[in-house]
Amino acid sequence: MKKKITVPGIMALKGGDKVATMITCYDYTNAKLVDESDIDMILVGDSLGMTMLGYNGTVGVTLEDMIYHTKHVVKGAPNTFVIGDMPFGSYNVSVEDAIRNASRLFAEGGCDCIKLEGGTDFAPVIKAIVKAGIPVCAHIGLTPQSAAMMGGFKVQGKSLQAAQELLDSARAVQEAGAFMVVLEGIPAMLAKAISEKLTIPTMGIGAGASCDMQVLVAQDMLGMNEWVPKFVKKFADLHTTIIGAYNEYVKESNARTFPNEATQYNAKIEGIENLK
Ligand code: KIV
Repeated sequence: MKKKITVPGIMALKGGDKVATMITCYDYTNAKLVDESDIDMILVGDSLGMTMLGYNGTVGVTLEDMIYHTKHVVKGAPNTFVIGDMPFGSYNVSVEDAIRNASRLFAEGGCDCIKLEGGTDFAPVIKAIVKAGIPVCAHIGLTPQSAAMMGGFKVQGKSLQAAQELLDSARAVQEAGAFMVVLEGIPAMLAKAISEKLTIPTMGIGAGASCDMQVLVAQDMLGMNEWVPKFVKKFADLHTTIIGAYNEYVKESNARTFPNEATQYNAKIEGIENLK
């Protein structure tokens, strides 16, 4: 059985050979599967707005949604480090509000740390949450909660100035006490430069192979959706597998080959013909 990694264990990965891996997960059944695998970490991401709730983005996800999903994932994955994602509006009103909401997700969700989107501007919030005793994973680059400000889900840090701002943000969240930082949707060469300059581990999604760790959305990498972003590799084709299984079930039900002797209860009831 795998041993659950810890915050100091994650920080110690910096500069080592192991590339730790994380996958998103939103429910108990899938959490049990991840727990049985070699994956080190689970992100109960606010991407559940899209994968579980059918929204167009992450903005409609509430703190209650995050607590609900996080606590069921934690139940299914006792040997896997679980990150709970702070949803839109839960940490940008005031520092006090951010501490209160982070404490709720941490305590009621039972996760091992929280994640929030934002760089330099959110350093004071990160500092306060860490001071309250909650480990923080920062998230910079393409931050989906700010997609409207960015004009959509677009690669960030493409100019020298934008790249410098992202590096400054990475340094600011590190300085504020974040123990790791997610780099999403940035050029691979910028992710490499940031990873080399930070002392905390970086976790990449759409950020190339030089990050200290990697994360993917489960539904994408399992091939449950036909369309996936450019940076995703489908490691399975569950879309075909699941629809194939559903259609086979329909076919066998109609042919009355399912259920059969093996999949029904065969107790003999004396006098069944006398039922009125
Ligand atoms: O919510 C999420 O799934 C995320 C990942 C894309 C990093 O934030």
